Amino acid sequence: MNLTFTEEQEMMRSMVRNFAENEVAKEVERMETEDRFPKEVIQKMGELGLMGVPIPEEYGGSGMDFTSYIIAINELAKVSASVGVILSVHTSVGTNPILYFGTEEQKKKYVPKLASGEYLGAFALTEPSAGSDAASLRTSAKKDGDYYILNGSKMFITNGGVADTYVVFARTSEEKRSKGISAFIVEKDTPGLVIGKKERKMGLHGSNTVEISFDNCKVPKEQLLGEEGQGFKIAMSNLNVGRIGIAAQALGIAEAALEHAVEYAKEREQFGKPISHQQGLSFKLADMATSVEAAKVLTYQAASLVQKGLPCGKEASMAKMYATKTAVQTAIEAVQVFGGYGFTEDYPVERFFRDAKVTEIYEGTNEIQRLVIGKHLLK
Ligand code: CAA
Repeated sequence: MNLTFTEEQEMMRSMVRNFAENEVAKEVERMETEDRFPKEVIQKMGELGLMGVPIPEEYGGSGMDFTSYIIAINELAKVSASVGVILSVHTSVGTNPILYFGTEEQKKKYVPKLASGEYLGAFALTEPSAGSDAASLRTSAKKDGDYYILNGSKMFITNGGVADTYVVFARTSEEKRSKGISAFIVEKDTPGLVIGKKERKMGLHGSNTVEISFDNCKVPKEQLLGEEGQGFKIAMSNLNVGRIGIAAQALGIAEAALEHAVEYAKEREQFGKPISHQQGLSFKLADMATSVEAAKVLTYQAASLVQKGLPCGKEASMAKMYATKTAVQTAIEAVQVFGGYGFTEDYPVERFFRDAKVTEIYEGTNEIQRLVIGKHLLK
């Protein structure tokens, strides 16, 4: 695979890098210390067209290719993994399901607002007892005249509490496991939609993660997304693409950790010379750089499949599994290169270390990615 980018994609990279270094970096401290959602950053991203990079222009998006979108997440995550995941969830699983499965009316009503950043999107699949086994979800949606009445609770909802629309998965039939699940577009002010506890997390402090519940939540029947029983397919097919976004987020963390480690190794002197002159340390950096490069190839290869309209399930899982493992390992090694300083909040590597871990967990744990890859190999 040839990892070269078009002029347009390179322009996207330098525009987002500039924005991240000038506008996002200065907000990182507040996100970290106050657990603060960076709403001003997200608003500016909307103005720059970043909240709808791959969305067609006719639906208010920037109409750019999928690789440009992945570049945007990759560059943002180098500076703030929180902003990276906010964008990835908003686009891949908050907006795309409506774009690909919505009626023309639903698309016209929601996609331009989401693509411009006026609305923020979220995705509500996971439940307290249904994580990896998503098809076992219990939230119910019972048809009642012109409405569906939703009851149940959802867990670990990224962008929850700050989102304007939620793509919600609920059971419309008790008998059929994955085929009894349907998808709904639920607006934030719908009576019966209750925003619950905000999680206190190890990392990603700028990204909101909340519980939500549905208490006889009355959703108009026009808000059904796709057909009854099609919900699991909608969730899975959008998660395929979403996993490439998470790979890009993880790649950004790994690249940032490597860059900081290399710079520090050149500056820090011990035994009368920079520590980079110690072969043991240069070997460590070499291993980190090789893994980062491999993660980059897998991530952009998966992105190129989406761009060409080809199946990407296996490659998305491979990219997600490898890039997120690389993010964790590279961040751990970066802390090691920094020694005692790496364990303090004076340097960003401890944040990379904390932010990286969840990438191996959300949008399908890396064990689930192996399951998906295995199924593809053996079918
Ligand atoms: N793409 C398209 N279709 C898929 C699919 C995929 N990746 N995976 C499964 N399907 C389809 C299957 O083809 C099957 O269809 P048919 O019945 O028509 O053949 C149907 O869905 C059921 O598939 P399985 O029998 O394989 O389903 P399963 O119950 O065994 O589960 C699983 C499969 C892969 C384990 C799935 O449950 C899974 O991916 N679990 C992980 C859940 C997950 O990723 N959650 C993320 C939450 S969102 C999030 O994290 C966002 C965030 O905050 C950052």
